[in-house]
Amino acid sequence: MENRIITTKIGVYSHNELSAEDKNLVECAKNATATSYSPYSKFQVGAALLLDNGEVISGSNQENAAFPSGTCAERTTIFYASARYPGVRFRKLAIAAFTEGMFVEEPVSPCGACRQAILEYEKLGGEPIEILLVGRDKVYKLAGIRSLLPLSFEDF
Ligand code: THU
Repeated sequence: MENRIITTKIGVYSHNELSAEDKNLVECAKNATATSYSPYSKFQVGAALLLDNGEVISGSNQENAAFPSGTCAERTTIFYASARYPGVRFRKLAIAAFTEGMFVEEPVSPCGACRQAILEYEKLGGEPIEILLVGRDKVYKLAGIRSLLPLSFEDF
């Protein structure tokens, strides 16, 4: 028997350490929280995606009285981006969350279903999609979705 250890590298940035491009994407994700439809959880999540054509697409979580019918901010955003710009590579995705009158202190990380959906587009694009998880004081940067989804299901 052998043990294999999987490690995840997280870059921890203060907001003023971010590049102009990253700061803009973080702002877009924060702004997108205001478009959340989340009367059930009251947890407003926003995502902003930078595409290879320079466009930024943002989206938010959309809930439903039948709970599983709702969609996370990440999937709202990536599915819309792919529908709007099919075949254009995704470069970076920022995720922010707002609840009880403030942005969350500890960055929110995508759920399992969103990780798998992001991986699909990472594979399509052929390069890692950088992930920025936005906290009140810190932003966590991950080099690609595989950092959050080790031993992922792969069918192509
Ligand atoms: N949610 C997201 O939109 N993204 C995440 O990364 C975590 C959770 C949403 C789903 C639901 O509408 C609310 O946040 C509470 O879980």
